[in-house]
Amino acid sequence: MRDEVRIEPWSEGDLTLLRLMNAPELMDHLGGPETEDQLLVRHEQYVGMSAGTSGAGTMFRVVTTATGQAVGTIGYWERTRQGEVIYESGWGVLTEHQGRGLAGAALEAVLERAALERRHRFLHAFPSVGNGPSNAVCRKAGFSLLGECDFEYPPGRPMRCNDWRVELTF
Ligand SMILES: CC(C)(COP(=O)(O)OP(=O)(O)OC[C@H]1O[C@@H](n2cnc3c(N)ncnc32)[C@H](O)[C@@H]1OP(=O)(O)O)[C@@H](O)C(=O)NCCC(=O)NCCS
Repeated sequence: MRDEVRIEPWSEGDLTLLRLMNAPELMDHLGGPETEDQLLVRHEQYVGMSAGTSGAGTMFRVVTTATGQAVGTIGYWERTRQGEVIYESGWGVLTEHQGRGLAGAALEAVLERAALERRHRFLHAFPSVGNGPSNAVCRKAGFSLLGECDFEYPPGRPMRCNDWRVELTF
């Protein structure tokens, strides 16, 4: 049976989680680990996103319902793609908690939250073409594969990604 999770808005106390998520094996498809300074900037961005009420996006820690333990991160934010503003999502689960369906469960929760914003029709994800688990998460969550695209992540680092899209049901 798949473990249950809940998503909780990113808060000041989540810097430790962000540091754990910076492990080399988790950052393999994301440009490699960040420096402590970059993590501090990212952390403040996440706190700010979660404090916002504009609907422009939120970051969350992923918590297992059974234990209350933080096991990963997920969020949605706005991006302009081919002249259209869309939501994008991205996620990660700590290595020791992978393979239990937690990313898929967290993504379901994010899709519900993003739909409640009633702001954009589509949510996309752009996993690297070589990121097997992340592409599997998209497929299982009912996303459609639009095709491959060139992407920069982090800014300045080109990567080849799949463009997955799901329609948010209002
Ligand atoms: C992507 C990630 C979040 C998945 O977390 P997870 O909790 O293990 O994901 P789930 O258990 O919900 O689903 C993973 C699926 O990928 C499948 N999978 C695992 N390895 C795979 C591989 N090499 N190729 C294809 N599919 C694979 C699993 O079998 C599972 O599908 P199943 O439930 O049908 O068996 C995790 O691997 C991670 O944190 N990676 C590093 C961060 C990252 O790359 N994030 C993506 C940013 S878009």
